[in-house]
Amino acid sequence: VSATGRTAADVLIDGETIAAVLSPGSTLLGHDLASSVDEVIDATGKYVIPGGIDAHTHMELPFGGTNASDTFESGTRAAAWGGTTTIIDFAVQRAGERVLDGLGAWHDKAAGNCAIDYGFHQIVGGVDEDSLKAMEGLVAEGVTSYKLFMAYPGVFYSDDAQILRAMQKAADLGLLTMMHAENGPAIDVLAAQLVAQGKTDPYFHGIARAWQLEEEATHRAIMLADVTNAPLYVVHVSAKQAVAQLAWARDNGKNVFGETCPQYLYLSLEEQLGAPGFEGAKWVCSTPLRSRAEGHQEHMWQALRTNDLQMVSTDHCPFCMKGQKDLGVGDFRAIPNGIGSIEHRMDLMYQGVVTGQITLERWVELTSTTPARMFGLYGRKGVIAPGADADVVVYDPAGHTSIGLGKTHHMNMDYSAWEGYEIDGHVDVVLSRGSVVVDETGFRGRAGHGKYVPRGLSQYLL
Ligand code: URP
Ligand code: ZN
Ligand code: ZN
Repeated sequence: VSATGRTAADVLIDGETIAAVLSPGSTLLGHDLASSVDEVIDATGKYVIPGGIDAHTHMELPFGGTNASDTFESGTRAAAWGGTTTIIDFAVQRAGERVLDGLGAWHDKAAGNCAIDYGFHQIVGGVDEDSLKAMEGLVAEGVTSYKLFMAYPGVFYSDDAQILRAMQKAADLGLLTMMHAENGPAIDVLAAQLVAQGKTDPYFHGIARAWQLEEEATHRAIMLADVTNAPLYVVHVSAKQAVAQLAWARDNGKNVFGETCPQYLYLSLEEQLGAPGFEGAKWVCSTPLRSRAEGHQEHMWQALRTNDLQMVSTDHCPFCMKGQKDLGVGDFRAIPNGIGSIEHRMDLMYQGVVTGQITLERWVELTSTTPARMFGLYGRKGVIAPGADADVVVYDPAGHTSIGLGKTHHMNMDYSAWEGYEIDGHVDVVLSRGSVVVDETGFRGRAGHGKYVPRGLSQYLL
């Protein structure tokens, strides 16, 4: 199955790459295929797809006074279990730090530890003369996209002047600007007022981060990108009104893209409100979960069909309840923001095929092919074709996957945000550059197999 169609075929792998895609019954120098190769993986009746590419992860991210709980080792192993064979993680630069130092630090965390291939985006959390200059070095490092934050004043936040200047630089360099589009200063005022009223439970995180402040920031990002001729990619879109801004921009010829995440397709603010005690902290992330009564989740699925949104990443940013999320007991502002989903993205999106939300081909496009094209990996990743890395998943539509602790849970978290979810499909075999890393016997990969993949420019630049 590819982004453009499906056909019965044999996939011939030689070493780390795909050698050929052959029609069934093809021969190799007069010999039938099975007798000519070292190993045969029988995928009869199953889907063979390019390995998943999760273009938004945060292994070991220092955030909210603690570090995201998956290391590159545990996080990429969990990714492999779930049929994801490439991640693009975010290296971090903060105000006062040097951009390339941040990138180097992330290389040090990842090198030798990953089960699957990895690339980096650069967070530019302190836009100034030095960081603007340093952005000039990113493309040569294989880092062709960077993220700015309109949220989190005092942490990663950029004001409009900083955003404008970074976008001008990005437009010059061919870098893709990724935007966390929420009006952080306004959110912080609302959050402080809620806490002063005694409204400290996790649910109020979502009340403070109102959809109006996502819509407004999305619009502002679009217009700043427009005036600087910078292509724009808005991350973790959750509000239907923000999607409307993206659709409007695209309809008006602006080079703008949007990503959503499984949590915004399935989970809701109402369920967070209904969770007992402090349990709602499990689903504290930014942008926040949105109201189901307002129809945001259905609208995200629709936008994935209409191509108003182009991709699904996880924003994998896991924290344990004990010792991490519980920092925010009594004040939701101190709950570290993030949900861990890296292991379940391919399954959760496949369930959208089962329920008729998206087609099989769109599943592949949203989770692998468009991420590869958007972030300069296509050809090597995102496609099963001669010369591509042999990152391949055999997916069984007759299989079943029960998600939760003690079942399919290999992320370093003491809870699952997806407890009880049932998937009518199963990741059977996963290959990373020609090596089987997961099969029916379990995880067969190793830390250090995964290599750094320098990325080319986005194929979506005009
Ligand atoms: O809640 C989230 N999304 N945490 C990760 C950081 C970010 O803004 O992507
Ligand atoms: Zn963000
Ligand atoms: Zn993120």
